[in-house]
Amino acid sequence: MKILITRKIPQKGIQLLEEAGHTLTIHSETVTLTKTELINLAKQHDAVVSVGGNQLDSNFFEQCNHLKCIALMSVGYDNVDINAANLYKIPVSNTSDVLSKATSDIAFLLMLAVSRNAFNMHKKIEQGSWKNFEPTADLGIELYGKTLGVFGLGRIGIELAKKAKAAYEMKIIYHNRKRNEEAEDLIGATYVSFDELLAQSDVISIHANLSDETREIFDKTAFSKMKSSALFINTARGAVHNEKDLIEAIQSKTIWGAGLDVTNPEPMDKTNPLLNLPNVCVLPHIGSATVETRDQMALMAARNIIAALNNQKMPQVINKEVYD
Ligand code: DGY
Repeated sequence: MKILITRKIPQKGIQLLEEAGHTLTIHSETVTLTKTELINLAKQHDAVVSVGGNQLDSNFFEQCNHLKCIALMSVGYDNVDINAANLYKIPVSNTSDVLSKATSDIAFLLMLAVSRNAFNMHKKIEQGSWKNFEPTADLGIELYGKTLGVFGLGRIGIELAKKAKAAYEMKIIYHNRKRNEEAEDLIGATYVSFDELLAQSDVISIHANLSDETREIFDKTAFSKMKSSALFINTARGAVHNEKDLIEAIQSKTIWGAGLDVTNPEPMDKTNPLLNLPNVCVLPHIGSATVETRDQMALMAARNIIAALNNQKMPQVINKEVYD
């Protein structure tokens, strides 16, 4: 069968697909396909491995309703119109779980970096401004015994909570649409309302999917309910927070600072004011970017495609209903 891979992926995934006898078209790693290019290419293939934020909208599915399956090389699927995939009975899989440890590492890194203003301290040396020992300057905030509020407690949030407890004995509270009782037992997390999460957390870390419900839920009103010493960490999707309101909240000292691995839009422009604010650390969406995790993601995407093209259920299918 013919498989389109929308960006170069680690060799392990490519090898697995080739060993299964498939013919691959691998698009460039650095150039994003336009919607029309993607549709035109997908029309010539039986399956697609979608890498990066390709918008797989209703028009895509309408035009490419011949596809036997789509494997995303990501856990997030906010870029996919699942209802449209269901309409044409196209199974779509993601790469859940394999990136939880790596992504939670980045959330942990940002939490610590923001608490000690690490990125700006690095800039200070580059700018030649490291002069004396100043006992009252450059003071951070300690995390020991503080409260971590997880917004969207799933696998990545659980991994972060485990690290925060082990390193800093942090108390874990969380807010989800539904209670996650398994996670409560596993990490001793306490369910709270959204307003309680805002009011009680010393660190809020976002691990929720982007949906109509969560889009820009962290806005001026939400930031105003947080502690003035609170850290806001987002490694999920940039559109979960309103960027203008976040900038204002930091400038007005409504909150202490922010650590972002995701922005809106991506890539972030180099003139973005966030890059020059105190207690802000920004990374270029590298949550899953380790050799080990990217290999696992590529292998998982390949296994899902191979299963579907063998008329088997995709192991990590998102829209199970297509099999009903
Ligand atoms: C994911 O897997 O969803 C990461 O954010 C990469 O897009």
